[in-house]
Amino acid sequence: MTSKKELKLAYGILVACLVVGLLGYSVLPAKSPESPIRKMYKTTGGDVLFDHQSHRDNYGLYCEDCHHAYRELEKEMPDSCGQCHQPDGKYQPALGDKGMFKHDAHAQEYGLYCNDCHHNYQQGDPEPPQHCTACHQRGMGDDMMPGRKDAFHQQCIGCHEDFGVMPGKTDCAGCHGPRNRTEAFHDQCMNCHEDFGVGPTQSDCNQCHGY
Ligand code: HEC
Ligand code: HEC
Ligand code: HEC
Ligand code: HEC
Ligand code: HEC
Ligand code: HEC
Ligand code: HEC
Ligand code: HEC
Repeated sequence: MTSKKELKLAYGILVACLVVGLLGYSVLPAKSPESPIRKMYKTTGGDVLFDHQSHRDNYGLYCEDCHHAYRELEKEMPDSCGQCHQPDGKYQPALGDKGMFKHDAHAQEYGLYCNDCHHNYQQGDPEPPQHCTACHQRGMGDDMMPGRKDAFHQQCIGCHEDFGVMPGKTDCAGCHGPRNRTEAFHDQCMNCHEDFGVGPTQSDCNQCHGY
């Protein structure tokens, strides 16, 4: 026989469980899907509806076919395209956060000396090297002493040519960052449709921009 005390305890535990369960249900948000189902792009030429789910699950494609920077970065989930492909992405700065120049890789991994680039710096100087722009400034420069843009272009591209490595003279995006947002979407969406002979392409603007 179960005593009244034991029954009370059992009910108590049951009620506590219910309360915790209800609280948990209402406080914690429902788990959001790991990747979008559809994306609607608002554009000046008519909105574009992109069905991510069917592209992802039904057309026999790999994530990397579109998220081309995904595997390299070894992230759990890919970034949005706009993270890298900015609206004004044509000539982003080559240096700094948005740029493609990796200082530490150049300084440590490619077998270069500091003064291959910091040409007025000597190994062991007590002061660290100065910014190039301390001396090479916009609107300055002559044959001997190039201005800002020429100093960088001559040094960066010159050395790449000597070593026979990319990015070279004509590969602007290789240093200045990826193509702009519209080009990135257009090239990827339409090139694949053309390759497969499916879906809207160059001659079907309105089949994408119809919403
Ligand atoms: C396969 C689908 C597809 C096709 C076909 C397509 N577009 Fe687009 N278009 C897009 C997507 C996706 C975007 C990116 C929207 C964004 O940046 O948010 C875009 C962006 C644009 C933009 C930029 C709009 C803005 O507000 O910044 C213009 C302009 C444009 N498209 C014009 C065209 C023209 C003209 C054609 C036909 C020659 C065309 N598109 C064909 C999908 C398509
Ligand atoms: C046909 C091309 C294509 C395929 C295949 C594809 N995706 Fe996407 N995915 C996109 C596009 C385009 C976006 C929208 C990105 C944007 O608007 O910047 C997106 C967005 C995403 C996002 C949201 C990123 C963000 O922060 O905006 C995630 C997560 C994602 N995809 C995961 C995946 C995974 C995982 C796979 C493979 C199972 C996959 N995708 C397959 C094209 C694709
Ligand atoms: C982590 C940064 C990053 C992300 C995220 C990214 N890209 Fe790129 N993308 C680049 C770089 C860097 C290049 C090389 C420079 C160039 O060709 O513009 C490039 C090149 C491209 C190219 C030209 C090369 C080719 O494969 O034809 C297309 C098209 C493109 N990206 C589309 C996209 C789309 C669409 C997405 C989202 C699904 C995306 N990118 C996400 C950095 C990125
Ligand atoms: C090897 C790398 C590299 C390549 C390739 C390259 N650039 Fe540059 N570029 C730079 C660096 C570094 C700067 C210095 C300032 C910055 O953008 O951070 C610069 C500066 C510039 C500037 C001046 C920006 C300003 O704010 O003063 C322009 C414009 C420019 N580049 C255009 C181009 C064009 C167009 C191409 C292709 C024909 C190209 N670059 C190729 C590295 C490169
Ligand atoms: C491939 C060329 C290259 C090599 C090799 C290189 N640097 Fe640099 N370094 C640069 C460029 C370009 C900048 C940015 C200059 C600017 O913004 O004006 C820079 C910036 C710096 C800065 C200023 C950073 C800041 O944000 O304040 C220091 C310090 C520096 N480098 C130290 C070194 C040292 C030490 C080495 C050798 C171990 C080295 N660099 C090797 C090209 C190089
Ligand atoms: C303290 C001032 C100063 C700094 C800092 C400096 N430069 Fe210079 N640079 C000069 C002067 C002066 C000349 C012309 C005489 C010479 O070659 O020394 C020159 C010449 C050049 C030249 C043309 C000659 C050659 O070597 O091919 C390039 C390219 C150049 N600098 C790039 C850079 C870059 C890139 C940086 C940063 C990594 C940098 N400079 C840092 C003062 C400086
Ligand atoms: C003294 C030689 C030298 C100079 C100067 C130099 N680079 Fe490089 N760079 C290299 C070499 C070597 C590689 C190839 C490394 C590899 O692929 O193993 C490289 C590769 C690169 C790459 C592709 C690989 C990576 O690191 O992402 C980029 C982008 C780049 N350089 C940008 C620049 C920019 C921008 C400048 C000028 C600010 C510059 N480089 C100046 C020697 C140089
Ligand atoms: C890597 C290949 C690939 C890329 C990238 C791609 N698509 Fe597609 N898309 C397909 C395939 C395959 C089909 C055809 C499915 C069928 O008809 O069986 C398709 C069909 C479509 C259709 C018609 C059917 C549907 O699913 O709505 C639209 C609209 C479309 N794509 C828009 C886009 C847009 C917008 C982008 C860029 C954001 C894009 N696609 C990028 C492969 C791709």
